[in-house]
This record gives sequence, C-alpha cells and structure tokens, in this order.
Amino acid sequence: MVSDEPAIPEDGPPPEVQPSPPPVAEPPPEARPALSAAPEVIHRHAAITRITHWINVVCITVLLMSGFQIFDAHPALYWGQKGADFDRHIFAWPGGIPHWATIPGWQDLATGRIWHFFFAWLFVINGLVYLAYGFLSGHFRRDFLPTRHQLAHIGQSAWEHLRLKFPKGEEAKTYNVLQKFAYIGIVILLPLMLATGLTMSPGMDSAFPWLLDLFGGRQSDRTLHFIFAWLIVGFVIIHLIAILAAGPINEIGSMITGRWKVEPEPHPIPPSQPETAP
Ligand code: HEM
Repeated sequence: MVSDEPAIPEDGPPPEVQPSPPPVAEPPPEARPALSAAPEVIHRHAAITRITHWINVVCITVLLMSGFQIFDAHPALYWGQKGADFDRHIFAWPGGIPHWATIPGWQDLATGRIWHFFFAWLFVINGLVYLAYGFLSGHFRRDFLPTRHQLAHIGQSAWEHLRLKFPKGEEAKTYNVLQKFAYIGIVILLPLMLATGLTMSPGMDSAFPWLLDLFGGRQSDRTLHFIFAWLIVGFVIIHLIAILAAGPINEIGSMITGRWKVEPEPHPIPPSQPETAP
C-alpha cells in the first residue's frame, strides 16, 4: 500500500525553515564601533637616556631648592655690575621664597651653598654624559629635529595639544613637534643655566673674566640665572601636564623600563557586503 501522506524520513521530521530577519540599514561609518588592534609595545628610551633623565630630575630639584635658599639671603635682583641694599633693584621678593621650598628648610646660606655646588657638579657630569650620548648616537638628530611635515602642520599640532588630543598609532611613536621644540629648548637652556652659575664664581671670574662681560656684569648674570631657573620651572610644569594628559603610567613607565605601549589607532569596522539576491 502506498500512503498519501508525505514521506517522513526515518531520522525525524524535516528542520523548520526560519524566516530571514528584515534587512537592517547599515549605520554611517562614524556611528560604527571601533575595532582596536592588540597594543604594540616598542622600545622608546635607551638606558642611558633613562638613567641620566632621573639623575637630572634629582639634580634640578635640589639645585632649585638650594638656589632659592641662596636667593633668600638677598631676595632682590639688579642689572649691571653692582647691586646692594641702597642700589635700585629691578625685582624684589619681600620676605623671600618660603622656607618650605628651600634646602635646608630654614635660613642657612652656607649649607644651601654646599648642597647647590655638590649637585651642580653632579648635574654637569650627568649632563655631559647625556649630551655626548645624544650627539654621538644620533638620538638628537633622529628624535629631536622636527621633520618638514611636522613643521608644516605645527598649527594643527598645537591646536590638538590645546584640546589634549594626542596622536595614536604610528604617529605617536615619535616625539611630536611641540615636544621636540620643548626638549631642544631645555637642552639649550640647561647649559646657559650652568654658564651663568659658573660666572658668579670668583674662581671662574679670575680664570675666564670674559664670562662676566658676556652676561653684562655680575648682577645681570645673577638676574639671568634666576630667570633661567624659572624658565626651567615653567618647562617642568608643562612637561608634567603633558605627561599626565598623555597617560602617566605608560609615559613614566617608559622612562623607567624603556618599554612603551602604542595606543592603536581606532579602525572603523568595514561595511558588511550587501546580501546578493539568489
Ligand atoms: C618628576 C619630574 C619629571 C617626570 C615625571 C618626567 C617624565 C618624563 C617622561 C615620561 C619623558 C618621556 C616622554 C615621552 O616619551 O614622550 C620625559 C622626557 C624628557 N624629560 Fe622629563 N620628567 C621630569 C622632569 C624633567 C626635568 C626636570 C627635565 C629637565 C629640566 C626633564 C627633561 C626631559 C627631557 C629633555 C626629555 C627627553 C629625553 C630624551 O628623549 O632624550 N624632565 N620626561
């Protein structure tokens, strides 16, 4: 006998056919979620850069604080060769810089000078090592000199920095143009700081009297030394704000270990292929 019923296979009923969902409109590219690639880790700072950088941070901190102590012995500045109580000053800080910012933390010029001169020599030796490495290894030429492309887009870079927008991906692997100028500036400023400091030493004056002429006299030299000190404070404040904004753990970690995680550039998910009609 042949049954009218449709044949049922021995292994069960046929699978139910699911209705296909209605087509969904593709979202615009800017609304699509970003695909982020696995972070790449690069070697950013040579050991010599890292070691000299942190020794420099200690030196600059002690030099500033002991320098404030020395300034407080006579907290007024003059221009030219002479300057004392009855001369006309160009700047005065009544009461001097607060003691919490000085080394030692009370009025003691002699101890302040000992700290200042010890760390000044450490700073000189450390600075010479850094400069020799920077020039001989090509680090300054390779990493500090802005490229033509960076110079052409300096306005855009400044605007993005003001909005605390930092480059990602390939572009982030090199210093940006503002960072480069800041580092070149500090590499010029620090030797000037040293030269104006040495000029105040009577021993140096007798060996190299032209130093006093170069900086316009003993009092002008002291004033310039003070201005340079505040320019360094300004650099450090901007330097720290930039590091905080760019991600302090990655940034400071790279100055300790040398390794730096590159923030990948977000890639929008490519639009899916439209379904082709059968
Ligand atoms: C606590 C204070 C400081 C911290 C946390 C700090 C941190 C850093 C970090 C994270 C970098 C690497 C930036 C990058 O890879 O994009 C850097 C580079 C640099 N910092 Fe500092 N810094 C400090 C103080 C100073 C001071 C006082 C100076 C000099 C006056 C200085 C001069 C420099 C220079 C010249 C570089 C570039 C080094 C090179 O590539 O040769 N920093 N700093």
